[in-house]
Amino acid sequence: MKGLVFVEFVEFVEQEYSLEMVDRIIDNSALASGGAYTSVGVYDHREMFELVGQLSRETGVSEGDLLTVFGRHTFGRFLDRFPELFEGVDSAVEFLRSIEDYIHVEVKKLYPDAELPTFTYEPSEPGSLAMVYQSPRCLADFAKGLIAGCVDHFGSPMDVDMTPLADDHSVVRFIVRPRAGS
Ligand code: HEM
Repeated sequence: MKGLVFVEFVEFVEQEYSLEMVDRIIDNSALASGGAYTSVGVYDHREMFELVGQLSRETGVSEGDLLTVFGRHTFGRFLDRFPELFEGVDSAVEFLRSIEDYIHVEVKKLYPDAELPTFTYEPSEPGSLAMVYQSPRCLADFAKGLIAGCVDHFGSPMDVDMTPLADDHSVVRFIVRPRAGS
């Protein structure tokens, strides 16, 4: 996993909790890297689960919820860093539908060593989107936060349903649909 995701995670923990919390979770984790992350480095994605596990122990918040909040945070950072990817896009559904064939294709050009998930799109009701996340890194909870951040950004209220299709969350279906009554 790209170092930039780890750098973001460390900044997220400092912002949401404290610098002391960052030190504590790194000290309490058995990290092959030692926890000195650089954006250009590449690290074992299991280190992310180690850090999130320690943060969960410290805060009492579940690992899944922490990954989802971190996903929301990360979407905001993507907006700041890559505004050109959002030009001319009018809705969350339009943006989400473009991840597999456009967004992550551009990401791969920028970072050839990025390890990205696969999204497949299923027939959906107009205005809604059914997409299946697949990745051996099992970061569907992080994906949920990114999707929720995307929905917030475009401003129309939508519900995000997540249904695991594999016990280890390596395959998960997301359904994004306009919120009833809005
Ligand atoms: C809401 C839209 C998006 C979703 C749902 C999404 C989903 C994901 C997920 C779940 C991962 C973790 C890797 C895995 O699960 O195997 C990932 C990695 C990544 N995504 Fe996206 N993504 C989105 C938009 C973007 C955007 C806009 C960018 C910006 C350029 C981006 C750049 C990246 C990068 C750099 C990684 C890390 C690759 C690595 O660790 O090697 N994504 N994405």
